[in-house]
Amino acid sequence: MKKHNFSAGPCILPQEVLKKASEAVINFNNLNLSLIEISHRSADFVEVMEKARSLVLELLELENKGYSVLFLQGGASLEFLMTPYNLMKENGKAAYLETGTWSSKAIKEAKLLGEVDIIASSKDKNYNYIPKEYTIANDVDYVHFTSNNTIYGTQFKEFPKTEALLVCDMSSDIFSRKLDFSQFDLIYAGAQKNMGPAGTTLVVVKDDVLGKTGRQIPSMLDYQVHISKDSMYNTPAVFPIYVSMLTLQWIKDQGGVLEIEKKNIAKAELLYNEIDNNPLFKGAAAKEDRSYMNVTFLLTNENKKEQFDNMCKEAGINGLNGHRSVGGYRASIYNAMPIESIQVLVDLMKSL
Ligand SMILES: Cc1ncc(COP(=O)(O)O)c(C=O)c1O
Repeated sequence: MKKHNFSAGPCILPQEVLKKASEAVINFNNLNLSLIEISHRSADFVEVMEKARSLVLELLELENKGYSVLFLQGGASLEFLMTPYNLMKENGKAAYLETGTWSSKAIKEAKLLGEVDIIASSKDKNYNYIPKEYTIANDVDYVHFTSNNTIYGTQFKEFPKTEALLVCDMSSDIFSRKLDFSQFDLIYAGAQKNMGPAGTTLVVVKDDVLGKTGRQIPSMLDYQVHISKDSMYNTPAVFPIYVSMLTLQWIKDQGGVLEIEKKNIAKAELLYNEIDNNPLFKGAAAKEDRSYMNVTFLLTNENKKEQFDNMCKEAGINGLNGHRSVGGYRASIYNAMPIESIQVLVDLMKSL
């Protein structure tokens, strides 16, 4: 039975990427060796790493703009700590926008290293909107925000304007929309949404913002160490990086981020239109802040839950349950999700 995978992450990846990745596990580059049994320093793998790096810069239009690309481990969660380690000065201060679970976790880590100014929060309404009014003090080392709130289904459409460094956790919407990425000094994203399997984290950082904190940084947490070793200070996550490279190539073959964005808009609008026009459903997030990656919605009549859940199961729909802190449903419709799968869900909603 065909499955429609709405899982929030790890999540759907392009079928052709999965096919190529599985082939490489058996016989990589016709070496008669598996990708996961050769040295990460072999010419064949070094080429993968270089290609992945250059595709990131190409897709984000950051070539020759002074950025380095890293593929690290420890998940986006370790970046919550690495960011302040590398950017917050001794006795420094950073500004954070609190828009959900992940930004709260980032705040917790930053507080270990310095002062954190929570300049705005949407906690008062269970994070169902993006705060728009805030003031950024002019003595902060950086401003941190989460561009897409995977759990609550909200997404920044406008970004903080600041003279300070701008840092963004883009885990759940990187490569999903065209932006001026040069406005960011540091972007990080766990691979397991729009890029590949869990196990590697993408970091894109402007070189000249590093090395200015005056603090001692443990080697594994120091971006400059990883840059100087081409993300091979320790053994990199070869398989997740290989799959990420394939997915980045797939994005390029689709016409790049702008073409992907057009498809993502059509997909999200199809689903939000049904949510807004079907009296049995309502959206969970404020309309103007709705995410184009994670669509959160609720039933207006809980008595219909069992019937709807059964219908979804029979139709092969997977991973539609909302996060426990929001309830209801969450359709994660990342880049690789075909519009046909969203149509299947919309047709079920119509027939409920
Ligand atoms: C926006 C965001 N940030 C951070 C994380 C944490 O990522 P990881 O599990 O790679 O540490 C997630 C995970 O879903 C996320 O959605």
